Amino acid sequence: MKKFSSFFPFLFTATFFCSCGSETKTPEKKDDSFVTFSTDIAPLIYKNCSPCHRPGQAGPFDLLSYNDVKKNANRIKFATTTHFMPPWPADPSYSNFIGERVLTQNEIDLIKNWIENKMPVGDSTKIPSPPEFYNGSFFGKPDLVVRMQEIVKLKSGRDNFFMIKFPYEIAQDTFVCAIEFVPHKRKLIHHVNGHTISFDDNKKKNVYEGKNILPDMQENFVPSFKEMGLANDDGTFPLMTPNTVYYLPGFTPPQYPGDVGGYVLKKKGAFLLKNIHYGPSPEDVNDSSYINIFFTDKKPKRPIKEIQLGTFGVSVIEPALEIPANQIKTFHTQWKVPVDISLLSVNPHMHLLGKNFLAYAISPNGDTIKLIRINKWDFRWQYYYTFPSMKKIPAGSIMHAYATYDNTKENLLNPFSPPQLIKERKGTESMRTTEEMFQFIFTYVPYKAGDENVSLERK
Ligand code: HEC
Repeated sequence: MKKFSSFFPFLFTATFFCSCGSETKTPEKKDDSFVTFSTDIAPLIYKNCSPCHRPGQAGPFDLLSYNDVKKNANRIKFATTTHFMPPWPADPSYSNFIGERVLTQNEIDLIKNWIENKMPVGDSTKIPSPPEFYNGSFFGKPDLVVRMQEIVKLKSGRDNFFMIKFPYEIAQDTFVCAIEFVPHKRKLIHHVNGHTISFDDNKKKNVYEGKNILPDMQENFVPSFKEMGLANDDGTFPLMTPNTVYYLPGFTPPQYPGDVGGYVLKKKGAFLLKNIHYGPSPEDVNDSSYINIFFTDKKPKRPIKEIQLGTFGVSVIEPALEIPANQIKTFHTQWKVPVDISLLSVNPHMHLLGKNFLAYAISPNGDTIKLIRINKWDFRWQYYYTFPSMKKIPAGSIMHAYATYDNTKENLLNPFSPPQLIKERKGTESMRTTEEMFQFIFTYVPYKAGDENVSLERK
C-alpha cells in the first residue's frame, strides 16, 4: 500500500492531527476523528459497493481504492444518506437473504462523518486489499463459455427486445452446477430470461442452423422457434428447461449446496434468451454478451422448481389488476401450498407503478412465515432473493402476496402525465410501460427431512 503514501502525503498529516487533537475533543466528537479509511471505511466500501463498482460492472465508476472513494466523496455521501445506494429494496428488519447489501444507520453516519472530517486515510499499511474478482465472472474461471453466433446491433435512442439463440455442442452429456449470463453492454442490459434446449443426439443434425436473433414481439412462439432452428429435424420440439439463464443488474446466479439444483447439459443444445431487454443507448452499439458454464461431478438429484403467483401464474389477483388514474391501490393474491416444500428464493415483480410489496405464508397451525417486504419499490432492482437456509413451508400453508401501486402524479416514474387507467399485461411477451404486472415468483424443492438446517450460503 505504498501507493497511497506517495500519492497522498498530506493525508498522513491529517491523520496525525486527528489522533493528536482527539485527546482534547469532547467525547462525542472523539469517535469521529478516529474514523479512518484503513480501519473503518475500506471494509464497508469493499463489501457493499465494490462488487458493482468495478470495471465491467453496472456501477458508473469504480470504488476499489482510497482515491476512488475520495474522488466521489460527495456523491457517496448523498447516495448513502438517501438510501439510494447500496441498492437493496428488501426490508432487512422483516426477513434476511444471502448477499444482503445494507448499511446500518451507524455505518451511514460513519461514512458521512468521515467525509465531512476530510477523509483521513489512517494507517496506510493497514488498508485491506480490495476484493479480488475474476474478470467476467462471479465464480472464477468457467469450464465452458457459450457465445452468440452473431453480435447484436443496437440502434440508438430506443429500447430493444430480442430473442437470442446461443447454440453449443460438447463432447458428452455433462453435469452443470451454475450457468452465468455475462452481459457485455452492462449499462444497457436491463434483464435477461432464458431457457435451456436439450436435443437428443439422433434427432438434430445441426444445432447451428436457423436465425440467431429475432425481435421479441411474437404473440405465438412456435413459428419463431422454428425460424430459429429450435425444432428437431422431424419438426417436433426438444425438451426445454425454463429459466436457467437469468440476469438483472446486481444479480448473482445461485449455486446451491449438495444435490440441490444443477442441470444436465446435453451434448447438443442451445440457450435461448427468450427475452433480453436493452435500454436506450445514446449511440449505435454492438453487444456480444456470453454465458459461462461451470461443470460438476455431482449428479443433480433435486431439480429446482419455480411457481408464479399472480400475472400469468397459478393464483388469481383480487381485485382484477386495474389501477385507476390518481389512485394508490393494493391488490392481493393467495395460494395454498399442496405439499411440504423447501423454499430457496423469492422474486417480487411489478413495473413502474409499483410502490410496495409484502409476502408471507400462514402455516396450518397459524404461524406466520415471513417471506419478503419491500417498503419502497424500485423498478431497477428486482433480485431473486435467496434465503440463508432452506425455508420449510408445510403443506396446507396459505401463501399471501400484496402489491401496492401508485398511479398518481407523485410517482415520478408514472409513464403518463396526466395519469391514466393502467391495466394488467396480457399475453404479450415484451414489457410495455402502459401495462402492469403483479407477480410473486419463488423457487423451491420438495421438502426432505433436515432441509431447514441446510445453509444456502455459497462456500
Ligand atoms: C448492485 C450493484 C450496486 C451496488 C452494490 C452499489 N452500487 Fe452504486 N450504483 C450502481 C448502479 C447500476 C448505479 C447507476 C444507477 C442509476 O444511474 O440509476 C449506481 C450509482 C451510484 C451512485 C450515483 C452516481 C451518480 O449518478 O452520481 C453513487 C454515488 C453510488 N452508486 C455509490 C455507491 C456506494 C457508496 C455503494 C456502496 C455503499 C454502492 N454504490 C453500491 C450499482 C451498485
